[in-house]
Amino acid sequence: MHQRQLFLQHMAQTSPAPMALEVERAEGVWLYDRQGKRYLDLIAGIGVSNVGHRHPKVLAAIQHQLDRYLHVMVYGEYVLSPQVALAKAIAETLPGGLHQVYLVNSGSEATEGAMKLAKRFTGRTELISCAQAYHGSTQGSLSLMGDEYFKQAYRPLLPNTQLIRYNDHASLDFISSQTAAVFVETIQGEAGLRVASKEWMKALRKRCTDCGTLLVLDEIQAGFGRTGTFWAFEAYEIMPDIVLMAKGMGGGMPIGAFAASVSIMQCLSYEPVLGHITTFGGHPVSAAAALATLHLIKEQQLNLQALRIEQQFHNGLKHPKVIELRSAGAMMALELGSWDLVQACIQLALEKGLITDWFLFCNTALRIAPPLTMTEEEANWAIQTLLECLEQLPS
Ligand SMILES: Cc1ncc(COP(=O)(O)O)c(C=O)c1O
Repeated sequence: MHQRQLFLQHMAQTSPAPMALEVERAEGVWLYDRQGKRYLDLIAGIGVSNVGHRHPKVLAAIQHQLDRYLHVMVYGEYVLSPQVALAKAIAETLPGGLHQVYLVNSGSEATEGAMKLAKRFTGRTELISCAQAYHGSTQGSLSLMGDEYFKQAYRPLLPNTQLIRYNDHASLDFISSQTAAVFVETIQGEAGLRVASKEWMKALRKRCTDCGTLLVLDEIQAGFGRTGTFWAFEAYEIMPDIVLMAKGMGGGMPIGAFAASVSIMQCLSYEPVLGHITTFGGHPVSAAAALATLHLIKEQQLNLQALRIEQQFHNGLKHPKVIELRSAGAMMALELGSWDLVQACIQLALEKGLITDWFLFCNTALRIAPPLTMTEEEANWAIQTLLECLEQLPS
């Protein structure tokens, strides 16, 4: 039986129409299928491969750790140098005393851990998030999702959750002294790339402070250089109480984390002890890969490459069918105005060897989130290919 048939037969399917690209290998911005056809990966596995696929420095760090040890104990009991070095390096990127990092395996787990931490620290239960927010797909993180379609089949979810509108000043009044935390994506990704104003972010910070509510910024998609600064919140001149990270963090390996101050984080160590438990969180190989990734982004200033890529796309992607190109660094959404046009464009691009995608809560726009290592020439090829696709779309 062919791989594709086995995939459909034995792997749990999450949609009736998976892309089913048969990947043979990956390198830099390129994926190669079993027939040897290459595809430029314009979505980086949904914002994961910020340093490109199989970056040699990430591979070297993984190899180095493979020769020492793999999993040896559940999170937090042994002193494991890849975890310690990573936590220290992350803390150094975070201003404002966010000195402790809890390492997990994914973005959803980072959200879950932060939800528990906020409830435990404040002694409150209400959690607020935004319309069109995506913080993960586990039951807790799903409770924060800002879209009913994806939630309704799984209710009842967590009680005492509320949605407010992103970037809306009047909504801030819903935050009260009952609210444990407000979870916000610094830049909304699955909403089709929505950027909050500085004024709103500052007002949100102030309202949280006034109410004794923790501000949790989800940087799972926007962090690690993607938007032009190492953390997207740096552009807003505000400090969150908890930061969530994953995706681009691991250089292609599974890892996530939530960071907070010592005074907040210490709540997880008493009443009850072991306030959050994970067997594999911060796996030493993933931690080593993440540390190499962090160093790469810092040393090569890949955040500035994100800005260069953004500029190149704004300059080059001019076409009558483009309604708008929304962007925050190399996190972009090409608005075409209809689901049919988006689907046709994704298909055409795939045939030409270019991988794009749509957004969970915005099916009228194309996702553009390439590796930040993409060269000018590669970006130019992607832009020209997209222009060809747009030209071929029905009017
Ligand atoms: C902003 C945001 N938060 C959380 C998540 C969940 O991360 P994961 O899929 O690793 O659980 C995602 C994943 O797309 C995300 O984009």
